[in-house]
Amino acid sequence: MGISSGAANQEHWSGRAAFILAAVGSAVGLGNLVRFPYVAGDTGGGAFVVLYLLCILFIGIPVLMAELYIGRRGGGSSVAAIRRLATAEGKSSTWALIGWIGMVASFLIVTFYSVLAGWVLHFVLVSIGDLAANVGENGPGALAAPAFANMEEGEISAQLGGLVSNPTRMLVMHAIFMAVTVFIVSRGVKGGIEAAAKVLMPIFFFLLIMLTLSSLVNGDAAAGFSFLFKPDFSALAANLIDGSILLQAIGQAFFSLSLGSAMMVTYGIYMSREEDIPTSAKVVGMADTSVALVAGLAIFPIVFSFPALAANLDEKGAGFALLFDTLPLAFHQLPFGGLFAIAFFIMTLFAALTSSIALLEVAVAFTDGDIDVAPDQRRRRRLIGAISLGGLAFLIGVGHALSQVPVSVQDTFFNSWQPLGAIPLFAGKTLLDVVDFLTANVLLLLGGFLTAIFAGWIVSTSAAKEELRFGNEAAFGRWLFLVRWVAPAFVGAVLIYGAIISPVLAQRAERGSEAAQVIEEMSQPAE
Ligand code: PFF
Repeated sequence: MGISSGAANQEHWSGRAAFILAAVGSAVGLGNLVRFPYVAGDTGGGAFVVLYLLCILFIGIPVLMAELYIGRRGGGSSVAAIRRLATAEGKSSTWALIGWIGMVASFLIVTFYSVLAGWVLHFVLVSIGDLAANVGENGPGALAAPAFANMEEGEISAQLGGLVSNPTRMLVMHAIFMAVTVFIVSRGVKGGIEAAAKVLMPIFFFLLIMLTLSSLVNGDAAAGFSFLFKPDFSALAANLIDGSILLQAIGQAFFSLSLGSAMMVTYGIYMSREEDIPTSAKVVGMADTSVALVAGLAIFPIVFSFPALAANLDEKGAGFALLFDTLPLAFHQLPFGGLFAIAFFIMTLFAALTSSIALLEVAVAFTDGDIDVAPDQRRRRRLIGAISLGGLAFLIGVGHALSQVPVSVQDTFFNSWQPLGAIPLFAGKTLLDVVDFLTANVLLLLGGFLTAIFAGWIVSTSAAKEELRFGNEAAFGRWLFLVRWVAPAFVGAVLIYGAIISPVLAQRAERGSEAAQVIEEMSQPAE
């Protein structure tokens, strides 16, 4: 029996389906819809995808199983769970540091996640407003109109720039999104997180399937498939030489499955003892991966059906420009594009919301108190915890939002502030850049690395076996091998590479080119 079993004070998911929906909701987010399609297209297409799938299969899912079992067996919060497991094994309670790392990471992530989700909310409102105005002017027939029918192409492209130049608008969107997140989390596991996932996730999946089918039918399916899945061996070779593709694949796997952020440990806490962790982890891992792959097919065929947009893909750069510039331009040329735009942005918003709920929940579970705190007291603590942590995250997010305002528009202090500018590695990085780098490249990987070590080496194999209940000995042996050796080796390697070697090399290269420039200038004959 697990140590925390019988902890009647703890809330639990109402059943298997509820857990799966909530966990898939927490995993599927901006990482799948914004980060994956671009990274995949950019780093060798099919070759990256194969590498990514291997990382999910041999590192991601085994670590996910580890996080879920640690949470369920330990109970309380991520920090309390790990501490309890460590002390039960007669090991140092310092291992609870893993819980702290994850909790700090997920809290820091939600500070900027909410700002970016606020941008998505802005686009939901703008696309609804545009279609509504059109229908108001021209009657219901206008529902068939392309997106942003009342705008010129230049105006559409200028939307994102316009948004970041308008701090008030950004902050209002960020505030609304954070307030909804806080409200849901404050209502607890069953009444809040689970209830939200049960409404949002089915709508999300419905919209994703409709958009993908329409993109494949209306767009250039062949070009979309080839961009995403056809191996580009020259890009792969170039990336493999400097090791960055493995860093990208493992980093993306961790971000997408929310590993190392104590999120899955926390969601594991609310699992019942009857639940089969290996199967659940496989379902969550596969659902998350499928959404990433399918999202690419919802986006790229449409983009590739307009050659001018496809040609700009490299130049416009990653992530948000794809979402807020290229795609709106594509919808602008598509019959029923107005409806597609609304569907697309609502889908993205819902995905972001179920993830931000989970991100905030990690720290709120901690403020609930440990398993000795009585239910009514827990409810009070949760309300206070959700509001104060959400409020703090909002305030830090204000800094992130203001850091995005172009200096030419307004000096917001945050757009020129370089919080760690004294350290060469962070020179030129604003608050958002610093937090993004520290979480995605350092904390998540460090948390995941230590989790694998903890689950594989510190917790006794008998406890792990009892909690995971694999169908057979060989399957347990394979899992143990993966968390003991494979995950620590690869995650450890990319951690050192991504956090230390690669930035140092980049800096040297920069310094080298600066030096070369100085030498060149010096060797120019004086005028
Ligand atoms: N997994 C979600 C996404 O892909 O957007 C959200 C997320 C959770 C990202 C936890 C990162 C993280 F550490």
